[in-house]
Amino acid sequence: MKNLLLPLALMVTVATAGEQFAMSDADRAMYKEMLENNPADIFVEEGGELFEELGDEKALAKFLGVSEKELPKYIAGFPRYIKKLGNVVGIDQVLQAMQVEQGKEKYKLKSGKMFSMLAYVKSLANDEQFTIDINADEHIKASYDLGKKTFETPRGGRGLSCLSCHSADIVGQVLRTQPLPDLGKVGAGATWPAYRMTKSSLRTLQRRFQGCMKNALLKVIPIGSKEMVGLEVYISTLAQKEKKAIAIPGLKR
Ligand code: HEC
Repeated sequence: MKNLLLPLALMVTVATAGEQFAMSDADRAMYKEMLENNPADIFVEEGGELFEELGDEKALAKFLGVSEKELPKYIAGFPRYIKKLGNVVGIDQVLQAMQVEQGKEKYKLKSGKMFSMLAYVKSLANDEQFTIDINADEHIKASYDLGKKTFETPRGGRGLSCLSCHSADIVGQVLRTQPLPDLGKVGAGATWPAYRMTKSSLRTLQRRFQGCMKNALLKVIPIGSKEMVGLEVYISTLAQKEKKAIAIPGLKR
């Protein structure tokens, strides 16, 4: 616990062997049932219908300049630098750009419709390993660096960073009944969008980041900002290092 800040140290208790703080027996039974029948499936399906209106895989492949066959592996490389958008972007931002190009109204990045469509499109890469290459160009490198920095820099009222709770020397300990997860080992990058049981809705990775920001009193950074995209790059590479295949939609407490 050497890097642990005092305010956090006071909130953290150490889990003893065999104790399961995260879920009650009733919660666990519900989780098991939901694993077989993920409530997010219906959102993903809805996302598929919205994506169809945009012209499906064919239109996406064309927009990205890849073949339909290459699409799953290419999707597994997001967030990535898209030259014609001049930025490192998430899949949601590509979908927005397609909507604009087609003269359609664009969905807000934080809207339920966008979460659903993003979940569907990312699910096209299910079972693929991430293909993020942070040395592919200077843009993705800079985005990764910014994401790592955002993860590690203390901010907010309690002076916490993401790393305060998600560093190797603290994961597994318990904070207010919740075990602190190793974001690589739980494959966070590969399993969001996910159905979040405590929120009864489909949430995306960046939306999940915002949840932790709120809980830890860090100023909430907007979805789609450079910092958030960078965080998504960074967290996804942690799943990539652990060889976590993409599995959308996830199911989370
Ligand atoms: C005060 C401690 C704390 C801080 C600071 C914190 N987190 Fe968390 N985080 C948690 C806990 C506890 C959970 C697990 C909660 C649960 O199971 O519902 C979690 C879960 C997550 C998850 C979901 C993991 C999964 O199961 O897929 C992600 C992603 C995440 N945090 C990212 C971040 C990011 C990014 C930051 C910095 C902006 C951050 N966290 C800051 C405590 C923290």
